[in-house]
Amino acid sequence: MKTTDIATALAGKYPEWIVFVVTCDATGRVDLMPAGWCMVCSGEPPMLAVALGLGRHTRTVVEATGEFQIAFAGEGQREVVDFAGRCSGREVDKIAALGLRLSPGAATRVPLVEGCARSFECRLAGSLPSGDHVIYVGEILAAHVADPPVRNLVNFGGWYGPARAEE
Ligand SMILES: Cc1cc2nc3c(=O)[nH]c(=O)nc-3n(C[C@H](O)[C@H](O)[C@H](O)COP(=O)(O)O)c2cc1C
Repeated sequence: MKTTDIATALAGKYPEWIVFVVTCDATGRVDLMPAGWCMVCSGEPPMLAVALGLGRHTRTVVEATGEFQIAFAGEGQREVVDFAGRCSGREVDKIAALGLRLSPGAATRVPLVEGCARSFECRLAGSLPSGDHVIYVGEILAAHVADPPVRNLVNFGGWYGPARAEE
C-alpha cells in the first residue's frame, strides 16, 4: 500500500448503486433526486440510510413530511439520473419535465415512479449531521419490485450500466 490523497483513493470505490430519493411535499408536489450515498442500516426493523447534501431541496421535504422513498434506478433511466441530478426541485418540476408516470404508494403519500427497479417506502426514523451532508434513516414500511423485473442501474464511476446481465 502507499499513502495517497483522499479524493484519489475514494474515486476508485465504484461500482455504487444509484437510488432516487423520492418525496412528496404538503401540496402533493413530487420530486426525485439521484443518490449514491445510500445503505441498508438495519435488518430488523428493516431500514435504509441516505446522505443528503445540506442544500438539497429533497432534504427540506424529508424534514417537513417525515417520509421518503428509496427507489433503485432501473437500467432504462440514465437520462432520468442525469437530469434529476443536475437541477433542483426547488426550481424545476422534474416529474413533469421528464414526463414520468406515477402510481400510488402503499404505506406513504410518496408515489411509485415508473421505470425503477425496486422501491422502498420509508418513514423517517432519525437523522445525523455528517459534515456537509445529513444522514437520514428511514424505516421501510413497504417494498415494491418491477414486474416484469428491471435490472438496477449502477454507477461504475463516470458511466452507468446495468448491475448484471441476468436477473
Ligand atoms: C449519480 C449521482 C449520485 C448522487 N448522489 C448524491 C448523494 O448521495 N447525496 C446527495 O445529497 N446528492 C447526490 N447527488 C446530487 C443530487 O442528486 C443533486 O444535487 C440534485 O439536483 C438534488 O436535487 P433536489 O434539490 O431536488 O433535492 C447525486 C447525483 C448523481 C447524478
